Amino acid sequence: MNPPAIVLSVNPSRRALRWLASAVALAAASAVVACGEGTGASKPKGTGGTDGGDGGGGAAGSGAIDSFPYTPAGCGYTVAPPDVAESAGNTDTFGADATPRYLHSSWPGETHTGFAVNWVTDLDTLATQMLIGKERTAVEGADAASAGVTLQYGHTMLYGSVLFADSKQRAHEVHVCGLDADTTYYYKVGGPGHWSQTYEFSTAPTPGTAAPFKFAVLGDSRSGPEIYAQIQKAAFDEGADFQLFSGDFVDNTQNQSQWEALFGGASSGFAVQDALAQRPMMPANGNHDNLSAYYNGLMALPQDVSQGESAQGEEWYSFDYANAHFVVVNSESPAATLTTQREWMRADLAKVDRAETPWIFVSFHTPTYSCASTHEGDQLPIRAAWQPVFDEFEVDFVLMGHVHNYQRTVPIRGFQPGGTEGQVAAKGANDVPVIDGAGKASGTLYVLSAGAGGDLYGVKPASECYFASKTEETNNWGLFALDGKQVAFTAYKLDGSVMDQLTFTK
Ligand SMILES: [Fe+2]
Repeated sequence: MNPPAIVLSVNPSRRALRWLASAVALAAASAVVACGEGTGASKPKGTGGTDGGDGGGGAAGSGAIDSFPYTPAGCGYTVAPPDVAESAGNTDTFGADATPRYLHSSWPGETHTGFAVNWVTDLDTLATQMLIGKERTAVEGADAASAGVTLQYGHTMLYGSVLFADSKQRAHEVHVCGLDADTTYYYKVGGPGHWSQTYEFSTAPTPGTAAPFKFAVLGDSRSGPEIYAQIQKAAFDEGADFQLFSGDFVDNTQNQSQWEALFGGASSGFAVQDALAQRPMMPANGNHDNLSAYYNGLMALPQDVSQGESAQGEEWYSFDYANAHFVVVNSESPAATLTTQREWMRADLAKVDRAETPWIFVSFHTPTYSCASTHEGDQLPIRAAWQPVFDEFEVDFVLMGHVHNYQRTVPIRGFQPGGTEGQVAAKGANDVPVIDGAGKASGTLYVLSAGAGGDLYGVKPASECYFASKTEETNNWGLFALDGKQVAFTAYKLDGSVMDQLTFTK
């Protein structure tokens, strides 16, 4: 049975109609999305915020969300769920399977003052709440706002495929803002009597702070949720503070069961949820994600940057963490949008003060350099559109996916005369950039890590591609460790062995 109707945003918009048309067409064509195809685009969800409590106040956030978009209490941005889905605010309604599952966290706003959590329950559960505070025992013992524990409300979205015989469920999303920087909080989600376990979450250092931190890079989990789970455990064990995912979560973005296998997975007793609930994940849209209702509805990403026709607010964005700036763009967009994103990147990167934020990373799905025959033709338009910006702003690392193996280039800066082939820049031992007296790197390193579960693709030896330094056909993930003006990068195989490692200091 359905809960009382609190249908707030069912809105037969152009996007909704397009999504339905695309879904019907897909169903007629095939139930399987081949590589390179997209699935129906639907609309994203929003970001939300909440009461901005510092975890020590005990005041409840405003609970009534009666229209979309809404501004979560304490947040400086609005949140809109996908308009193709029935969405609602919180009520204390619980179904038969109300325990939150598939938790994952992200940063729709500032990394040092807030975060968001998404989870799933049965369809009839409408309770969408978070209890958060600085003392674990206070949060664990609370069933409502109380001394030292703040209550924050979120919204829900109906979640179920029109193409597959999946039972419909409900996705939930809560945003919290106004937290203290570089501080550990404890939280749980759900509602009275039906809470998740209590998780730990640490906010980022204040932007510009040269604090040491680590982040993981991985992509293309696709049809390998077991491998994805192994990598999530490894990244968590290695102390990654967050992760960049370069796209292609599952084979068919419209297939609910594939998303559930991915977020519900485990490795050696370690649940994927235990990593993602405590370490934010910031994804790029892949061709298999295709900005679908599931992709956008299950992620809470910045919505106030990319508000184009297909974007629905979560298509491209940037964020800061300590002394590094991160840009995530959508390589799966038409040529005109590649240009739009190029100009947005130019404006975004122009605002970065390299004296206090020396490191810049850019992440997207389809690679601009790949030493493999698979998807060989995909890279040129993106390289031509975006590399001039990477060169102009001396981006340090470009992180990519799509071609299922591991590759790392030599430093590249500019194009060879008369073409769009990259120019090899000055390089030191192990093909790392040379740093000049002003602390500038000679070129950008392009790292392709697309080994988190999809069937592997062959790759040529690095010696056969003028731009390649390392290549290997293997499941893999990478870990960046930053400490002030030093960066250390390690690429791991699934068995934990190191296949590539580099360090340089600006
Ligand atoms: Fe892909």
